Amino acid sequence: MNTIHTSRPPAGPAERIAGSSRRPATLGAAAPGAISLAMGEPDAGTPAPIVNAAVRSLLGGRTRYSPMTGAPALREALATKISAEHARPTTAREVVLTHGGTAGLASAMLALVVPGDRVLIPEPTYSLYADHAAMVGAEVVWVPARRDGSLDLTTLREEASSARMIILCNPGNPTGRVYSTSDLSGIGEILGMNPELLLLSDEAYGSIMFDGLEFASALDLPGVTSQVVFCGTLSKTYAMTGWRLGYVVADGAHADKINLIHRTINGPLNTFVQDAALAALETPSRDLRDAAVSYQERRDMVLKALSGISGVEMLPPQGAFYAFPRIASDLSSDEMVARFADAGVLVRSGTEFGPSGEGHVRISFATDVASLDEGLRRFAQAVKDFS
Ligand SMILES: Cc1ncc(COP(=O)(O)O)c(C=O)c1O
Repeated sequence: MNTIHTSRPPAGPAERIAGSSRRPATLGAAAPGAISLAMGEPDAGTPAPIVNAAVRSLLGGRTRYSPMTGAPALREALATKISAEHARPTTAREVVLTHGGTAGLASAMLALVVPGDRVLIPEPTYSLYADHAAMVGAEVVWVPARRDGSLDLTTLREEASSARMIILCNPGNPTGRVYSTSDLSGIGEILGMNPELLLLSDEAYGSIMFDGLEFASALDLPGVTSQVVFCGTLSKTYAMTGWRLGYVVADGAHADKINLIHRTINGPLNTFVQDAALAALETPSRDLRDAAVSYQERRDMVLKALSGISGVEMLPPQGAFYAFPRIASDLSSDEMVARFADAGVLVRSGTEFGPSGEGHVRISFATDVASLDEGLRRFAQAVKDFS
């Protein structure tokens, strides 16, 4: 009789992600009457000119497959815009259109990182990067921010020679941190000293800046263009979260690889969404500034509400639409989140965003003013009750 040997299959991408992910599997249905300050989604709907462009496209019969590598007109338009706005002349070949920022980040990781590579992730940061690293089988090296929120360039410099990639979220989710030009030029120097090292710069919130701060994009780093992989999305800037369109900018050879991975997984993108994206790029910069001002007003509401609560500390958000307060309490972040939910306000646990997130929670202030006001009132009351 034959002996049947059974063995567990080696852990694949799903097991690796499930084994290490800090992301909540679902956010659960909010209890009736609860206010959600948990979602990273603009409260305003997509602007009418963009919606109208999609409708026109659909009615015009633009419902067939788009070219595999994305609509040439949109790649060209993005290349022109990036060349105009940054010190980086960019060709259409260097622009990869993606299924949201999410697929851009995933495709960049799959294309450029191999199993066993080390990936340096300054944290607290957007939780998806570590899941993508786990998917590929790369090793995550968390690099906590300094107390003032700046990058720990010393540790990054030490680790860089054995690493393949640094992933920056700028402006930061969950902190609203905007890296200074000196932090960015420090990263530029590290790249210059390590020619095999790549920077994946996720600038999903690059248009949402406060207090007149100038945004320093990794696209402007001199001398290291071939090592910078920029990831953008239309989701936040144009309130298009449900449309699913993002883009990666990388030098030709890297862009070709990212494109290959992206189209292998996704096939072509939605034709009419790309037509609407062309309209989105025509949005007057005044409208984008107005949106940022509106988020800044809500940021100020958060600062005011939290500054009155003892035991709550926070670095003021400088961009994006998140605040990441630390709360002095014996409770863990997860336990605090449960208490806040009991008090009728939903926030996210700080531990989702990296090891140094313990003790913090993330508040999204992209919600409408009335809900934010009431949510912050409940938040303050809950902190008083449990701390
Ligand atoms: C920092 C950051 N990058 C990327 C994304 C993903 O964006 P998209 O909706 O375009 O996939 C998000 C979404 O919350 C984000 O916060």
